[in-house]
Amino acid sequence: MAEGERATKRSGRGYGWLGLAALLFAAMFYLYYVYPEEQIGPKQPISFSHRIHAGVKQINCRFCHPNVERSANAGLPPVEKCFFCHKYIIPDHPEIQKEKAYYDSNTPVPWVRVFWVPDFVFFNHIPHIKWAGFDCTQCHGDVKTMDRLQSKKFKMNFCIKCHRENKAQVDCWLACHR
Ligand code: HEC
Ligand code: HEC
Ligand code: HEC
Ligand code: HEC
Repeated sequence: MAEGERATKRSGRGYGWLGLAALLFAAMFYLYYVYPEEQIGPKQPISFSHRIHAGVKQINCRFCHPNVERSANAGLPPVEKCFFCHKYIIPDHPEIQKEKAYYDSNTPVPWVRVFWVPDFVFFNHIPHIKWAGFDCTQCHGDVKTMDRLQSKKFKMNFCIKCHRENKAQVDCWLACHR
């Protein structure tokens, strides 16, 4: 064996241990920090509850997400929309006061993103909602029972399985990777 090759082998073994340590660290990090967040959903800048608004008060999803049938992105409600009601409803609540600080300073609320697909995947709500008539729960879970939204990773198989069942487009390049 040439000298150089042996050196590579030896350092390769060194990296093996490093890799194992990194893996252990990643696993612990996941269990302590990431996993619990996934269980209850990420903490938001304002403790907005879908359970109270969409569940108890039965406000329609489309009142706050009207673009779900009009454009590729459903979008989040602008802060003005909250004060449509909260100018009159519990205006002194500490969380509404927080909201008001964003409103007064003209700052959009930095909501933490919960659902997403990678940039290279093409997704559009319109064919799913307007044409196929699916309910929001099909992909987002029972939102109206959740205080904090629980994130769900959209694996490719999730999309493909339903496309097969519904005889929708499953050609990778024509449908989702364009
Ligand atoms: C009163 C306004 C309001 C109503 C009604 C409402 N939402 Fe929302 N929605 C919000 C706000 C504010 C956020 C951002 C904070 C959050 O994620 O909890 C949000 C976030 C979301 C998100 C996650 C966006 C992301 O970060 O990826 C989904 C999905 C969603 N709403 C679906 C629904 C569905 C389904 C309904 C009806 C059952 C609904 N919403 C009703 C205000 C509303
Ligand atoms: C269509 C009316 C309406 C809109 C729009 C609305 N809310 Fe509310 N919200 C309510 C009602 C009704 C309650 C319940 C008040 C009560 O408990 O007496 C409430 C309660 C709350 C609470 C207190 C929850 C708790 O823990 O008691 C917060 C915080 C809140 N809303 C934030 C928001 C934010 C942020 C927005 C904008 C994204 C928003 N709301 C939009 C009607 C609305
Ligand atoms: C076929 C699956 C599917 C259905 C049905 C669906 N969504 Fe979504 N939704 C997604 C995916 C995937 C994303 C992430 C999109 C992205 O990253 O661009 C998303 C993102 C969102 C967001 C985040 C903001 C945005 O513009 O991306 C909101 C709000 C939302 N959906 C609301 C709704 C509502 C309300 C309904 C019911 C009327 C609904 N969705 C039905 C798959 C779905
Ligand atoms: C609940 C079932 C279901 C799920 C889940 C679903 N889809 Fe669909 N999708 C459909 C159906 C049905 C159609 C065809 C709608 C029509 O043309 O009437 C469609 C159409 C589409 C189209 C338009 C294709 C075209 O012909 O132009 C795209 C793009 C798409 N889906 C992407 C996705 C992606 C990406 C995901 C995963 C994040 C996803 N879909 C998840 C059922 C689903």
